Amino acid sequence: MSLVFNNIDRNEIRRVFQPSKVVLAIVFDPQNNRYNILPLCFHMWCSYSPSLYAIAIHKKNYSSILFQEAEEFVLAIPGEGMVDEVMFCGTHSGKHINKSHECKIEWSEAYKIKTPGINTAIVNIEIQVKERSIAGDHQIILGEIKAMLKNKQNKERVLLAVGPESKGYEILAQHGIHTIGIIPKQ
Ligand SMILES: Cc1cc2nc3c(=O)[nH]c(=O)nc-3n(C[C@H](O)[C@H](O)[C@H](O)COP(=O)(O)O)c2cc1C
Repeated sequence: MSLVFNNIDRNEIRRVFQPSKVVLAIVFDPQNNRYNILPLCFHMWCSYSPSLYAIAIHKKNYSSILFQEAEEFVLAIPGEGMVDEVMFCGTHSGKHINKSHECKIEWSEAYKIKTPGINTAIVNIEIQVKERSIAGDHQIILGEIKAMLKNKQNKERVLLAVGPESKGYEILAQHGIHTIGIIPKQ
């Protein structure tokens, strides 16, 4: 019998798992009295009723400390017009800088919670934290969706974290292991 499967490493499996949708998590930083923003591709919808969503934050990220206390957060879905802001927020720590100020983020009014969304995002999802757990080097935050707000005027395409297999995607930005792209128009 011929050997059909062979062992692969994490980088190789990214060819199968990616692309994944990029979201921006917005979480309050009480010490600096501001909101911090970080892009995530580790996230999933995990229940319809109630509507539950999970995100995973690496312990090395400043936001990991903020999520230990946060009672709520927003997931903003950025489109192609926000690629520079996404890459900036994903390559800088909010520990010492105000990312929203640096990126000239315009906040949108919060609906069911206190945390604002992003005006230029396609969708803002308001989430209340339900559970926190440790998963190795990441912290998993499970939250209940309280509102999903769509910008009616925004017709942009969603941003994708493209893995090593970037053929077929239009690549908009690249930094280290992060390649961000969109599906090209037909
Ligand atoms: C496209 C993209 C996806 C990312 N996905 C994740 C993720 O799922 N989890 C995570 O902890 N960090 C992720 N990162 C890295 C963080 O966003 C990055 O380390 C950020 O600078 C952390 O900011 P903070 O120190 O202000 O929390 C991602 C970065 C990019 C650019």
